[in-house]
Amino acid sequence: MEAFPYRNGELYCEDVPVARLVEQYGTPLWIYSRGYLLQQLREIQTAFAEVEPVLCYSVKANSNLGILKVMQSAGSSFDVVSGGELFRVKAAGADTTKVVFAGVGKTDDEIRFALESNILMFDVESEAELDAIANVAGSMNTVGPVALRLNPDIDAKTHAKTTTGKKGNKFGMDIERVQELAAKVLRDPRLALRGIHMHLGSPILTTDPYEAAAKKGVEVIQDLRKAGHKIDWLNLGGGFGISYRQEEGPPASAYAAVIVPPVKAAGIRLALEPGRFICGNSGILVSRTVFTKREGGKTFVIQDAAMNDLVRPAMYDSFHRIWPVRPSVPMPADLEGEIPNCPPVDIVGPICESGDYLAKSRAFPPVSRGDLIATFSAGAYGTAMSSNYNSRCRGAEVLVDGSNVELIRRRETWDDLIAHERF
Ligand code: LLP
Repeated sequence: MEAFPYRNGELYCEDVPVARLVEQYGTPLWIYSRGYLLQQLREIQTAFAEVEPVLCYSVKANSNLGILKVMQSAGSSFDVVSGGELFRVKAAGADTTKVVFAGVGKTDDEIRFALESNILMFDVESEAELDAIANVAGSMNTVGPVALRLNPDIDAKTHAKTTTGKKGNKFGMDIERVQELAAKVLRDPRLALRGIHMHLGSPILTTDPYEAAAKKGVEVIQDLRKAGHKIDWLNLGGGFGISYRQEEGPPASAYAAVIVPPVKAAGIRLALEPGRFICGNSGILVSRTVFTKREGGKTFVIQDAAMNDLVRPAMYDSFHRIWPVRPSVPMPADLEGEIPNCPPVDIVGPICESGDYLAKSRAFPPVSRGDLIATFSAGAYGTAMSSNYNSRCRGAEVLVDGSNVELIRRRETWDDLIAHERF
């Protein structure tokens, strides 16, 4: 399905005109398509069906309860990286026995909360963490289920700030140490070795890194089995890419084609932690043009979304398609080159930093005060990374299902901004 089609010259989400949503909920506004979320989850479920994986939607990509509930109801489990995320998935009604918990700095309190919640396994990122889980589990007279998060030293060819599986990244433990680490788990009755975990980076637009990781993971598990470990799980993390530009993201079946055969042949249980693939293109950010101005030989479109709402362009130089909601020029497939009647502009926010932009030197149809603008592919790492910088209120979030609309987060108010402060 197309979640955000233009019909009769205006942008829709499923069956609802975006402009109508803005009338009701204002800007900046986050709009998600329920149908698209489900379609993406199903695409992975279908592609990997042969090995019946446990799909753990990666909560960090978008942790709104409304989204988590959609995932939960469609049979997804969850990957969490903090006690707060675990709290969220429990609030969404998750079956915590299928939840996995990664992160390099889990505190004792978080470990205790996860053990009380009976999670499937911790993705353990250091030897010190193994000790901490053993101690907390021991104090609770229980056993800590662990997967060793290994750093396979594979270059996922992604952004320097989001690569995780290369030697020298802070994540996981060196793959060469796996036997020694596993032996330590085996000796400790407070721990149980459930699996091996690897996450290579995000987003990854080719399948080669997964092919290499699946091969290494299977080899490691077979070696561990030979050494007497009853180990079932290979968790290959997340990172499946999406199309921010046009059709550059491979389908889930392409990733499955390199992961499923070795996993199946070895009789291993597979877990995956997709985030962006599911929610990235399910959401847009809608903003309103406040002013336009021409200075220093450049045209600036100043609109009311900023780096506090969507930090990705500032943080990773990332590209998002951006186009007016009621454009004077139909949106072409390629937004990166020159476009007739669309002189280049910088699309910026009101924040007091030069890094506060959504796009630079972008061919864009002329817009005026009040015109609405849509930033696409904003469903993943948009709201999840948003802040109140410059004391800006975070926008509302709505979930569209056909012609139904559900408000899943109300717009913040100035009172919200100071609600936690004491004076
Ligand atoms: N599993 C682990 C252990 C992870 O660290 C991540 C993402 C995922 C799964 C989910 O990856 P995904 O399927 O969403 O690609 N803020 C950055 C992305 C940071 C990703 C962090 N880890 C961005 O906006 O591009």
